[in-house]
Amino acid sequence: MFHITIKKTYDEVSAEAFKVMEGVLKGDHTPVLGLATGSSPVGLYKEMIRDHKENGTSYKDIITFNLDEYIGLPRDHRESYWTFMHVNLFNHIDIPDENVHVPLGCGEDPEADCAAYEAELSKYTVDVQVLGIGSDGHIAFNEPGCPFDSVTHTMELTEQTRRDNARFFDNDINQVPTSAATMGLASIMRAKKIILIATGANKADAVWGMIKGPKTTDCPASILQDHPEVYVFLDEEAASRL
Ligand code: GLP
Repeated sequence: MFHITIKKTYDEVSAEAFKVMEGVLKGDHTPVLGLATGSSPVGLYKEMIRDHKENGTSYKDIITFNLDEYIGLPRDHRESYWTFMHVNLFNHIDIPDENVHVPLGCGEDPEADCAAYEAELSKYTVDVQVLGIGSDGHIAFNEPGCPFDSVTHTMELTEQTRRDNARFFDNDINQVPTSAATMGLASIMRAKKIILIATGANKADAVWGMIKGPKTTDCPASILQDHPEVYVFLDEEAASRL
């Protein structure tokens, strides 16, 4: 079930998304958070940092699981998702590093590392999972064709995704890793609530496919049609086909 909010500016979109996150943070138990990388959630993370600094909301006991990581980048690479999360959130709140989980993309056996990640994730129930959406309809790094029953796995990235993400790699697609370790679609669907943020015209087709299109692995995000509680935060451009 989708709850859709459309706002004019990215800051308004982020502030609205934070309201759902705030409800979870201030709920009746210490939550487990599922977190995402990419440009879309950065404004939400800024709101979480502001709230931590202004209101003292503590992350000392909060556990986090991130969606995905590039295969082949060391954790301290400037574009690893491990680094992204520290720069954009973890370094600014009081979460201990041992509470943070990001898939390992630089181990010797990525498949085994994915299985270990899924085993750890399955010990918890994620209270809220933050998501962006790729222009090809991917969520996390589950590209078109990925089975709906997938759990944490490795995935070859599509040319479109590598082109989209080249902006983080000196606009050079050759520097963008060719594969990733990612939570699967079934792993994501276990979260109690989902916050999905999408802005900009290049997300309009993917947003339409997610909400109005047929439920098909051609648009991995369309699996969310079966989720009971998805909060979608859009600007007018991303919502233009709805
Ligand atoms: C990346 C990430 C996704 C993200 C998507 C959109 O490839 N793996 O988790 O949602 O692309 O990114 P952005 O928010 O930068 O548009």
